[in-house]
Formats: sequence, structure tokens, C-alpha cells
Amino acid sequence: MVPDDNLEKQIKRHVIGRRQSFYCTVAPGLEAVCARELSELSDSLHVDAIDRGGVSFSGRLEDLYRANLHLRTAGRVLMRLDDFKATNFRQLAKRAAAFGWKRYLPRGAVPVCKVSTHQSRLYHSEAVAARIGQAIQAYWETQDVVPAGAHDQTLYVRLDNDRVSLSLDSSGPNLYRRGFKTHAAAAPLRETAAAAILDLAGYDPRRPLLDPMCGAGTFSLEAALIAKKVAPGALRTFAFMQWPAFRPRQWAFLKAAAAKERHTLASPLIFASDTDPEAVRHLSDCVQRHGLEDAIQVTCCDFFTRTPPSDTAGLIVINPPYGRRLEPDSVPHGFYSRIGTKLATDFRGWQVALLVPHPELITRLPAGLEPLRLIHGGLPLTLLVGVL
Ligand SMILES: C[S@@+](CC[C@H](N)C(=O)[O-])C[C@H]1O[C@@H](n2cnc3c(N)ncnc32)[C@H](O)[C@@H]1O
Repeated sequence: MVPDDNLEKQIKRHVIGRRQSFYCTVAPGLEAVCARELSELSDSLHVDAIDRGGVSFSGRLEDLYRANLHLRTAGRVLMRLDDFKATNFRQLAKRAAAFGWKRYLPRGAVPVCKVSTHQSRLYHSEAVAARIGQAIQAYWETQDVVPAGAHDQTLYVRLDNDRVSLSLDSSGPNLYRRGFKTHAAAAPLRETAAAAILDLAGYDPRRPLLDPMCGAGTFSLEAALIAKKVAPGALRTFAFMQWPAFRPRQWAFLKAAAAKERHTLASPLIFASDTDPEAVRHLSDCVQRHGLEDAIQVTCCDFFTRTPPSDTAGLIVINPPYGRRLEPDSVPHGFYSRIGTKLATDFRGWQVALLVPHPELITRLPAGLEPLRLIHGGLPLTLLVGVL
């Protein structure tokens, strides 16, 4: 294909050469953690607003790449494309057909449209998605390009009080899909939530971390990536890599800079254990496969017989089996009472982060811990943090 000089100029001028507006989606309750991560990413990036479920920021296209590569707590990163008023389908289709899609989308791509509408005359999400899809298709035809459905590109369309905003997803699969953990487990925690919980609990990689009901090991693996300064997106690909503005050399440079940061640790300070031998075996395999043995030690044992792995107090993170996910309709009061007693007896002086599915269970646990409300996988959860 002959390179289109005019298109290259347009991309340089409108996409690469300008500051852009972006939006990170994040689980409710974890927005402030994500905003802090963003503000530490680069000097050219600016956090503009924090809302429930997301953080708006602005910066250069390179900052979008950085966000995808380095953010530990965001679900996905969107690039805002257009914002306009539409009270009927004619206005919506006219504006969508006139937008310069070729600067943003792979040639001929008709993205999947995900629509949400609030207090707008265009309230029928499926009809809005269909109209925008048709408009993009018509756009490519005016460019003499054959349109085709692109399932790896997603356009988020939001209507709020008759204002339409169009945002293109740059991430592809949700960012919790790091590509490190290939094994499944019962009720695993999302990597993005685990990273945020570690942050909220004040995880310090120089001190021991105990993950005594580790399951698939999400807390331990996230802590290891933090301790070894491994970029969470180092192993995966992203939707933006298909965009016409994508510059592979610039991306290779960012990845190489991230890889240089990777540390080797003197000895493991992350102690993962579980009673389930299968879970322990999968996690051990994963640790070996990714060269994380200097960070994580995995053992098969019962939390209630475990003693602190180190004389130095550290952080203990517990995501016990709970509620709808593992034990339908049961509130495991006795189990939580035993956890409370064990913590109070053997882990005095340790910091704790403990996920609690039902507020009434909090009374079974040591007093004085701060309750933080989170949503995980659609379930409300309380995270108790503090010092024992
Ligand atoms: C909700 S899962 C943990 C999920 C984990 N955070 C992850 O991301 O995969 C709870 C785990 O606690 C383990 N478990 C239950 N009772 C235990 C005990 N007494 N000692 C150690 N592990 C236990 C289960 O085997 C299960 O793997």
C-alpha cells in the first residue's frame, strides 16, 4: 500500500502533535489511587478530574502508551475523540459521518460501539450504536476504503443530557489481564483491585508481605511486580498498537526503558500460602515461569497454624473465601471470628488489609481498623485496613 502523505500529515498535526484528553476507567472506591498513579507517570500528563468510576487526564499520545504500560489500578484507558450535542438520529449520524476517523482507526475499521445514555432524547442504546456504526461505514466508503467490522477496536459512546461524547478504547482487553497469571482459581481477585488494595494498605516492598489465603496469588504477584519494578503491561498487547498514529519505535523505546527498571531482589519478602495444594502448585509454576523466585516464596499451609514469616512486622493481606462467589447464602461468622483471633494473637504490630463481604462480620474482627467501601465484580465489599 502506498503511504498517504496527506494522512500522515493529518495524524502528526491532529493526533501526535497535540495534547489529547483521556479517561481511565477504575473500580468505584479506587479512583484516588489511580489518579495518584497517573500523576506520577510523566511531567507532560495532567490529571483533570476524578469522578465515580474514572479519572480524566490530558497529555500527549506517548502518555497514553505510558498509562497502558504502567498503570496498576486502571481498567482501561480511553482517548476522547469528539463531544457534541444531538437530540435526534439525523444530528448524530451527520456528525459521526463527518468525523476524521482515518486519523484514529485502523484503515476500514468499524469498531464495536458500547453506548450508555442518561437523560437524553436518544435513549435507545442499540439504535445509537447501529447509527454510529452505519455512519462510520459510510465514512470509509467516501474514502474509497472497504469497511469491515473490527472486534479489537471499541468506541465508547456516552449520552448525557443530549451531549454525545465519543471515546476510543486504547487498551483492548481490560488491563487487569496482565498476562502473568495464566491459571484460574475460585473467586480470584482482579489484578487492578489487588494493586489498589496494596496501595491503600500502605504496602512497602522493603517489609514482609504475608498472603496466607493466596488462591491464585493475585496479591503476591502484584506485590512482586511492584517490588521488582516490573511494568504490569510488559507482557501484553493493546488496541492502540493497531492505530495509524502508533509508532513501534517509540513504543519499543518506552518498553526498553521500563525493562531497565526491573530489579533483582536479595531474598523473597512476599510469603504466599494456601491450604489448596493445586492452587499452590499453579502459583509456584507461575512464579518460576516469570522469574519471580527472588520476590515470592510459596508454601502449602493452613493460615491458622502459620506463624509470622519474619520477626519484622509487615503487611498481611487476606481475601478469605466468601459469600456469593464461594459459599452461596452463607455468612461464615465462625471463620471470620477465627481469623480475628489469629490476627490479634499472632500478628500484633502488623499492618492488615482484609476483605470482608458482609458488614456484620466486621464485629468479629479486631477493633480499630478503618473500613473502606469498594465494589469488586459487582459485589459491594468492605476493605479493613490498619495496624493490629
Ligand atoms: C477467595 S480465595 C482467595 C483468592 C485470591 N485472593 C486470588 O486472587 O486468587 C480464598 C482462598 O482461601 C483459601 N483458604 C481457605 N481456608 C484457608 C485456610 N484455613 N488457610 C489457608 N488458606 C485457606 C482457599 O483455598 C482459597 O484459595
